Amino acid sequence: MLPSIDPTTTKSWAELKVLAKESNSSIQELFQKDPKRVEKFSFELESTYFDFSKNTIDDDTMSALLALAKECELADAIKALFSGAKINQTEDRAVLHTELRRLSEKSSYSDQVRKELDKVEKASDRIINGEWKGYSGRRITDIVNIGIGGSDLGPKMVTYALRPYWKSIKPHFISNVDAQQLHEELEELNPETTLFIIASKTFTTQETMTNAETARSWFLKNGGSEPDVSRHFVAVSTNKKAVEEFGIDTENMFEFWDWVGGRYSLWSSIGLVIACTIGYSDFENLLLGAEAMDNHFKDSDFENNIPIVAALIGIWHNNFLGYESQAILPYDHRLRFLPSYLQQADMESNGKSVDRSGKKVNYQTGPIIWGEPGTNGQHAFYQLIHQGTKIIPCDFLMIANPAHEYTDHHDKLLSNFLAQPEALLKGKSKEEVQAELQESNGLDIDVLPFKIFEGNRPSTSILVNELNPFNLGMLISFYEHKIFVQGVIWNIFSFDQWGVELGKQLAKPILAEIQKKETGNHDASTSALMKGAQDMRK
Ligand code: F6P
Repeated sequence: MLPSIDPTTTKSWAELKVLAKESNSSIQELFQKDPKRVEKFSFELESTYFDFSKNTIDDDTMSALLALAKECELADAIKALFSGAKINQTEDRAVLHTELRRLSEKSSYSDQVRKELDKVEKASDRIINGEWKGYSGRRITDIVNIGIGGSDLGPKMVTYALRPYWKSIKPHFISNVDAQQLHEELEELNPETTLFIIASKTFTTQETMTNAETARSWFLKNGGSEPDVSRHFVAVSTNKKAVEEFGIDTENMFEFWDWVGGRYSLWSSIGLVIACTIGYSDFENLLLGAEAMDNHFKDSDFENNIPIVAALIGIWHNNFLGYESQAILPYDHRLRFLPSYLQQADMESNGKSVDRSGKKVNYQTGPIIWGEPGTNGQHAFYQLIHQGTKIIPCDFLMIANPAHEYTDHHDKLLSNFLAQPEALLKGKSKEEVQAELQESNGLDIDVLPFKIFEGNRPSTSILVNELNPFNLGMLISFYEHKIFVQGVIWNIFSFDQWGVELGKQLAKPILAEIQKKETGNHDASTSALMKGAQDMRK
């Protein structure tokens, strides 16, 4: 159990409010004042470098933030997390995704975790080496992971991030109940050589179950027969009964447990699609990377603890400087699904407005997470980041060594990764613009004010040596722990997600009404939309 501590009642919260009011040095001035700034606010773990120095922090803010973490009893919360205390109180569950990757040490969970990992290893080996045959005796060439939310976003993000590690299987991901997605994929697939993974913690999620049923009908209509289903459909779930009811042999079921949250489940057998695509040993390397970050998080003092420092800077931005969102900007095509993965990880965890004592909070909690890979974003929304009225803290991510040989491209990518945070920091002054505009450009309007960049816009840069499974595992675990720390300080429950329930509940009667061509009893707008949609449908 985590205690309920209202962070706004702490001494450090009050101190931070004063610091925020008084802070008038620009980030550039902070660099000038402190020649050791980069050293102080950057960290290296394994071969990943985290540079927080371009944020609006200094020694005073950092020490007040560290004191806030102490006053909110973060150390005990970390112990509670790792010890398996039921910190997901509203669901009466422990939160133990870290156990899934605790490979170097034995614990009371090791045996069950190892048993499932062995099963994943065996299946993925057989699939990759062609021993697992489809109904016509041909090897499996394509795997379709049917899942949504945590049963899709994590596995998909990791699988595409590790594209250079792919073996013989082509992965596909189906999540949306919109059949267009399934339809487009199925058109390309051959039932003889396709394996479907039905990935759902609960095995009740509407989207996943609907897609799974449709995939099975497609399989049966296109050459497969009932007895062949077991070679082409496997399940990953915590719900044995529902898997059986769906008609999947529990021999073909990969288990995980209620102490693994959906959005924290890629490390479990939900990662089966990852293992089948990159091979089991690299799946384990991913887990080992996460474990390295877990150990760093668990064992380092607060001031040198990378996820804690990142979390505290986020709190400073969110609660004291009023910055409402956080951009995730990976300068790597392989990490293109990182922003959407982190949207769920962060916003489903910390998008809460009731504290741990059940009281409505009177301060900001989780930020809006969004982003796109660089350099595409530069030509889309960076205008607002540079010159808009909102301050958007940005995480820039870069991989030093690419997995291709087009050095010229990579030099250009790297130069952009370096230039953007520098531009945000420095801006461009009136004098600099004036110097550039020596000669009149013949326009009627004085363009000078439009060309000024105020600068002083915060960013964090994360530089990874290479995007291998180990480093990726570390990076994901870094974000998971950052989210955890923020949830502890905001005094909220980060591991439930009641906010997704109401829409699901309301969709049920609406579906029945649509099927009966009725409009039901709704608010006037919803009724008009229902009628409109029904009239439009042919
Ligand atoms: O969106 C709500 C949610 O419960 C997520 O937390 C979860 O990742 C997703 O639905 C899918 O759930 P399941 O794996 O049970 O199908």
